[in-house]
Amino acid sequence: MNLLQQKIIAVGKVLSDSVLKVDSFLNHQIDPELMKYIGEEFAALFADAGITKILTIESSGIAPSVMAGLNLGVPVVFARKRKSLTLVDQLYSAKVHSFTKNETNEISVSNSYLSKDDVVLVIDDFLANGQAALGLIDIVKQAEADCAGVGIVIEKGFQNGGNVIRQRGIRVESLAIIDSLIDGKVTFREDTSK
Ligand code: G4P
Ligand code: NA
Ligand code: NA
Repeated sequence: MNLLQQKIIAVGKVLSDSVLKVDSFLNHQIDPELMKYIGEEFAALFADAGITKILTIESSGIAPSVMAGLNLGVPVVFARKRKSLTLVDQLYSAKVHSFTKNETNEISVSNSYLSKDDVVLVIDDFLANGQAALGLIDIVKQAEADCAGVGIVIEKGFQNGGNVIRQRGIRVESLAIIDSLIDGKVTFREDTSK
């Protein structure tokens, strides 16, 4: 098991057959040492991809993205879920529907921070149904930039997002893939164990 998987086993809480709570290191309190590790892993995976920018979504995507950006030496842009007062530029935007929360957010990114010359790595904390990642990929497309791939901290392999994005021919690298949360037990997909 890699460091992230060990952390999930040690402190993750299985709330139901489909939801894992990781507030103690990722979604509320943040573990900087673990984020450092996560940033190094993403940077190593995408070292040869020519990345010029990381694109994520507030709020929980920001910490892992900043550490990846530090290691790759590139800036990090986060899509906003609410329009900022000072965001007066032209916006790229996409509608993101959350099946979990049953709500749709319009996410947006200023056109000042993504251009057709960028090679973008999309990062997010969780991959479930893939709606957030697809919205970010759509924004990359609007900017006429290249999407080099998607880096995910925790993929729920029993939900469909990973398949949907990989079927589009987009590279998806998840540091932990969970195949099952049934009976309160976390089961990882073998090939992500390092
Ligand atoms: P999707 O984008 O893959 O379709 O995911 P979905 O709509 O199902 O998820 C909505 C929110 O819930 C997202 O966070 C997502 O990261 C998170 N999420 C989904 N499944 C889990 C899970 O099993 N555990 C945890 N901890 N989070 C999960 P968000 O609303 O964008 O919030 P934020 O944390 O980024 O602020
Ligand atoms: Na997120
Ligand atoms: Na989240």
